[in-house]
Amino acid sequence: MNDNDMLLWDETLFKDLEVLEPDYLPDYFPHRDTQLNTLRFALRPALRGMRPVNCLLVGPPGTGKTSAVMKVFREIEAHTKNVVAVKINCQIDSTRFAVVSRIYKKMFGISPPTSGVAFRKLFETIVDSLISSEKVLLVALDDLNYLCYEGHANEVMYSLLRAHEQFPGVRVGVIGILNDASDLYKLDARVNSVFLPEEISFSHYEYSEILDILGDRAKYGFYPRVVPEEVLKLVVSYVERTGDLRVGIDLLKRSGLNAEFRGSRTVSAADVDKAYESSKILHLCRGINILSDSEKTLLELVAKTGEIQAGELYKNFHELTELGYTRFYGMVNKLQSLNYMDADFSGKGQRGRTRIIKPRFEAEDILKCIEKK
Ligand SMILES: Nc1ncnc2c1ncn2[C@@H]1O[C@H](COP(=O)(O)OP(=O)(O)OP(=O)(O)O)[C@@H](O)[C@H]1O
Ligand SMILES: [Mg+2]
Repeated sequence: MNDNDMLLWDETLFKDLEVLEPDYLPDYFPHRDTQLNTLRFALRPALRGMRPVNCLLVGPPGTGKTSAVMKVFREIEAHTKNVVAVKINCQIDSTRFAVVSRIYKKMFGISPPTSGVAFRKLFETIVDSLISSEKVLLVALDDLNYLCYEGHANEVMYSLLRAHEQFPGVRVGVIGILNDASDLYKLDARVNSVFLPEEISFSHYEYSEILDILGDRAKYGFYPRVVPEEVLKLVVSYVERTGDLRVGIDLLKRSGLNAEFRGSRTVSAADVDKAYESSKILHLCRGINILSDSEKTLLELVAKTGEIQAGELYKNFHELTELGYTRFYGMVNKLQSLNYMDADFSGKGQRGRTRIIKPRFEAEDILKCIEKK
């Protein structure tokens, strides 16, 4: 067929492409019952007009944190009109003003004027309305680390969490969402003493869980028999490496598009391999991008040296950053849990057991992502 035919060709392998979009909130949300129930339990007081327990959701990318909060927010909103539940994407709204503007918009249906209004004025309007209507405010600060980097987290959280001291009767709950709890050390004591969150941890999904979840997406996203079981399993094996479900959903979609491009009625292993090759750098860079500068330095060292003993790596790292062993050790654990590198005990060090560190991705790919920043 020529190019024009290709665009007009309306046969498709996708039953519902929406199901494979990254912001789709699925009905079937398994393997997160404990986390969902802890969250429901912590927020339940809000349904009775009381201040809920603050929460902190922590876990690696693509483990369902944002989706879990959105699900519980929907349940709450379906149940009562007396709770205002707002999710803030801190990567986009990364100042105190932007955060209250988002809350304002949710409450009043329009954005506040962007100039000439002080934060204080907006916040007072919000609080007055909450008090007079006896509503409870729930604010989910998603990707809270972006507020921490910019130094705005203290201001935002201070305003929200101590609002009741200044405005008696107002009830606010805060849900923080983070990849790494160590970013919270940037919060000051005035905030921490009132935040006191219930910590809810989201771990990597295991092989069988990924298979279950992606199988459901494939079932609703594609027509029957388009994605054979062994092809689905191949997708899962790619995802298992990072545990990031978003990568898996994206991989399903790209594989399907590759199959369509070939004019095939089924997705093949080659379609998946090709999709993985073209997107792997993208996903890797997305993950590396959210690391701190010192974490990037450490990863860069590992990528450049290849396999190395932990002690020796520490020496090199310390020379570059002057950071101490405790911070180094924490970062090694973090980079290991994010699957960027292995840090296993060799069992045969000269003085007891020593850890051998090695990159889990092609060094070249890691370096490409670090260079790009
Ligand atoms: N248990 C689950 N069942 C079904 N789909 C899930 C489940 N967990 C995650 N997903 C899907 O995986 C994708 C990523 O989930 P989500 O955005 O909630 O992750 P996250 O933990 O917030 O990641 P990040 O830290 O990168 O923001 C979404 O498309 C979501 O629908
Ligand atoms: Mg998220």
